[in-house]
Amino acid sequence: MRVIIRKTYEEISIEAANLVRARIEKKPDLVLGLATGSSPLGLYKELINMNRKKLISFKKVRTFNLDEYYGLKGDHPQSYRYFMDTNFFNHIDIDKTNTMVPDGTAKDWEEFCIYYENQIKKSGGIDLQVLGIGSDGHIAFNEPGSSLASRTRLVALDAQTIEDNARFFENKDQVPRFALSMGVGTILEAKEIILIANGKKKAPAIAKAIEGPITSLISASALQMHPRVTYFLDQEAASELKRIDYYKFVEQAEKEIGKEIF
Ligand code: F6R
Repeated sequence: MRVIIRKTYEEISIEAANLVRARIEKKPDLVLGLATGSSPLGLYKELINMNRKKLISFKKVRTFNLDEYYGLKGDHPQSYRYFMDTNFFNHIDIDKTNTMVPDGTAKDWEEFCIYYENQIKKSGGIDLQVLGIGSDGHIAFNEPGSSLASRTRLVALDAQTIEDNARFFENKDQVPRFALSMGVGTILEAKEIILIANGKKKAPAIAKAIEGPITSLISASALQMHPRVTYFLDQEAASELKRIDYYKFVEQAEKEIGKEIF
């Protein structure tokens, strides 16, 4: 695992955007897995800037989002489709028909989840997956206790997640109780993964995910089994890690050999 630590959120957003840019330059029809939430907002802002300056193009890029609230239509201001359109897709040169977000209105959710997994497979699989992390260690909506082999499915949201996400709704009661979410097993099939985390609130989850045992109680800890993961952390999110010196040493070594060391 690569662990990149910078002082500020802005700095890690730029670093993450540079990685995404490099991957798109190498493969213009990259299949990109995307997350919502506050963590990737800085990354999206940087990518929008790069696109405006014509440094990268999303014309051939295809995207799959991790999750969607179950029961919300795509035009609901709190739906993840709406989030992606307003925070990213509307501002870049992507073909909207190439942007996939789980359908929160799918009546037969079981059938829809199989369809979503098949669409990912048909695209050739996700080349680069962007993740955030919940304060309870979740990735996508894989709440503590989710099987590490789980696939796209309906999940019941944990009380902590409802609490965390209530800030986006008028009150806690309006937060949907269910979501459609890629599983941990689905995420682990991405060819490469980056996870962005900032702020003190994420520090315990980050320490457990990177340096703790692999456990379904911290779904991000499953990333330890993936061969190409890069964490982008600000100083606060990294503050409970024990091996910061080693991660810095590896980054220095990467500069010396001019290659990423996973
Ligand atoms: C969102 C998602 C979630 C978030 C996580 C962190 O699509 O999959 O796992 O990444 O809840 O959310 P923020 O970034 O808002 O702290």
